[in-house]
Amino acid sequence: MLDQLEQQPADALLALIKLHNADPRADKIDLGVGVYRTGQGDTPVFAAIKAAEQKLIDTQDSKAYLGPEGDMEFVHALMPYVFGAADPSMGGRIDGMQTPGGTGGVRLAAALARKAGVQRIWMGVPSWPNHAQILADLGLELKTFAHSTPQGVVDMDALRGAIAAAEPGDAMLLHGCCHNPTGIDYSHADWDEIAPALKAKGLLPLLDLAYQGLGFGMEEDAYGVRRVLAEVPEALIAYSCDKNFGMYRDRVGAVYAMVADPAQLNAVLSNGHSLARAAWSMPPDHGAAAVRIILQDKALTALWLDELDTMRTRMRQVRARLAEAGQAGSVNLSPLGGQSGLFSIVPLTGEQILKLRSDHGIYMAGSGRINIAGLTMGNIDKFIAAVAAVSA
Ligand SMILES: Cc1ncc(COP(=O)(O)O)c(C=O)c1O
Repeated sequence: MLDQLEQQPADALLALIKLHNADPRADKIDLGVGVYRTGQGDTPVFAAIKAAEQKLIDTQDSKAYLGPEGDMEFVHALMPYVFGAADPSMGGRIDGMQTPGGTGGVRLAAALARKAGVQRIWMGVPSWPNHAQILADLGLELKTFAHSTPQGVVDMDALRGAIAAAEPGDAMLLHGCCHNPTGIDYSHADWDEIAPALKAKGLLPLLDLAYQGLGFGMEEDAYGVRRVLAEVPEALIAYSCDKNFGMYRDRVGAVYAMVADPAQLNAVLSNGHSLARAAWSMPPDHGAAAVRIILQDKALTALWLDELDTMRTRMRQVRARLAEAGQAGSVNLSPLGGQSGLFSIVPLTGEQILKLRSDHGIYMAGSGRINIAGLTMGNIDKFIAAVAAVSA
């Protein structure tokens, strides 16, 4: 039977890594891989994580099973950052469970929506490619609309049109901040319009917060999520700690549900638990335990926030330099300055992207997505000059 299975296309980004590794040019630039890099091109383990891991090794006295909900102290320690310190559970209406990364969070949120009767979900495109893959795998009907305009700003008209066309009971998937792949986020004024519009239409928001703190700060990046939750009766929130704690391969994430009536919360979460049992049984413990240790320790929390600040500041500097360059050939780099997070799209043709690779040793996704953190003060001028050369 297994010979019925057809070859699936290789992951384009992984193929790009191989090509980059094989390139002998010393000044090659990798803008493909989606991890943070320092000005020296490294992706180090956070010092706060190293300290927390040491503490974990010294104090952990059992590896016994925790259960499908994972480390609930981790889940709860994160809540003030996501939902606000004043009332993180919104009067007992929000609780969650640990998941294997933000991917597990998105998967479980979408599966919960499906189980609750959602059949159709709306999403701005382009989006993180795994969104569409997960939704299709769950049998949800995906309706798409343009996330942004060719000028590099949010396409609010397209979103308004989608909300108008949606039916009550549909879900709407929105990136909380640092949109992947465009870096184009909703402004506060946009969220102020979106939140009541979702409520008025009776849509279930599925909010994906995978990069909190990488845009403008932990509080600032939570604006959209909090604004929507303040308005709607119920919502699902997927969260990743893999970027803002640098835990990528350790798979640290969570899913939260906000219900209309606190009395409904246990039933909703019990469905999350049974879905998790059937999928991965329980999430990996180590990374979430390290994050929990940080969040329960004032000094380690301060150290982590400081490290996050350094990452964000560096990416803002890169963006400011790109914006300052303005026009590079036929490409206007100015909008990248106001965008957020690890990614942006440079509007180049497929041919120009291939020329960047062959003539300049610059590797980026075929979509034009670049990892902002792949640029440093040492290689950014080369990048700008190369974009100008291939697009002249
Ligand atoms: C928008 C978005 N959501 C979720 C995720 C999942 O992150 P994780 O690595 O924690 O599974 C990513 C990762 O790239 C992402 O870009």
